[in-house]
Amino acid sequence: MSNEIASQAVHTAYGGVVPELASRAHQQNIVPVVDRALKVANIEPSQLDAIAFTNGPGLMGSLMVGTSFAKSLALTLDIPLIPVHHMHAHILAHAIEGAHATPVAYPFLCLTVSGGHTQLVRVDAPKNMEVLGETIDDAVGEAFDKAAKILGLPYPGGPHIDRLAKNGDDTFMEFNRSNVANYDYSFSGMKTSFLYALQKHVKETPDFIEKHKADICASYQRALLDVLFDKLEKAIKDTGISNVALAGGVSANSALRKRLHNLGIQKRLNTYVPPLEYTTDNAAMIGIAGYYNYRNGEYADLSISSTAKAKF
Ligand code: KG4
Ligand code: ZN
Repeated sequence: MSNEIASQAVHTAYGGVVPELASRAHQQNIVPVVDRALKVANIEPSQLDAIAFTNGPGLMGSLMVGTSFAKSLALTLDIPLIPVHHMHAHILAHAIEGAHATPVAYPFLCLTVSGGHTQLVRVDAPKNMEVLGETIDDAVGEAFDKAAKILGLPYPGGPHIDRLAKNGDDTFMEFNRSNVANYDYSFSGMKTSFLYALQKHVKETPDFIEKHKADICASYQRALLDVLFDKLEKAIKDTGISNVALAGGVSANSALRKRLHNLGIQKRLNTYVPPLEYTTDNAAMIGIAGYYNYRNGEYADLSISSTAKAKF
């Protein structure tokens, strides 16, 4: 009924997420944003059936603010308290009514790409999903953001690389592609290879970055997408699953969206690209995941605590 977000401009001001400042921003914003959500939905707190909240994974300080607030609200209104796993929620955003013209079909493969995670997940039902592979070090969102920082772009850098890459030549430079076993990913080496390649060029041509920013962005973005698609295509082939979805903040990336769309046409897949409002962290995804947990009777009692590294 509403999908309100308090954007944390504080991250941009400091060029990244400073955990202490993120917690404070959560504390400042949580009452106004809940208030606004109720106003937009045009309902009274007394009409709420349950309160869902992110229990993890994430930054401890921020999670604690949400958990404590949700507990207080559930206690005051005497309604069930529903913990939600952040990564389940990104995936289940596909199940939100109206998210797709044709509702997502199960089973589907979901490539979840965010600032903290990169996972390839097999989803058999809303309450039945399994991680096939994931990053063994950095998330792909981090690989975008750190490269952007090297290029002098604001945080978060992913959208800036996306924007600049549109006017660039993606064959301008070559970057090493990581390759780890099975369906797992690795991005820390690619970030380092990016840094070293640029340092070398800048040494020879001091204005190299300024002169070729769009080409650098396009080439690096292609390298990241190659790695993502290598494992995704392998999973499609091995599992025989022909419903394929993207989720998480990086799924806002226009080249990634286009590439999945084209793969779908080429391999006759049903592809699901989330509406932009459900890609980066949002309230609706927690709502839908909370709905399935609620139906399943997964209530928490007031002793629940946040888990920074929640098990999938
Ligand atoms: O899911 P999300 O909002 O937060 C986490 O749970 O991490 O993802 C944030 C990440 C950031 O790394 C950001 O740079 C990236 O998503 N991102 C993008 C784009 N929009 C957001 N990366 C590439 N292209 C984009 N258009
Ligand atoms: Zn997220």
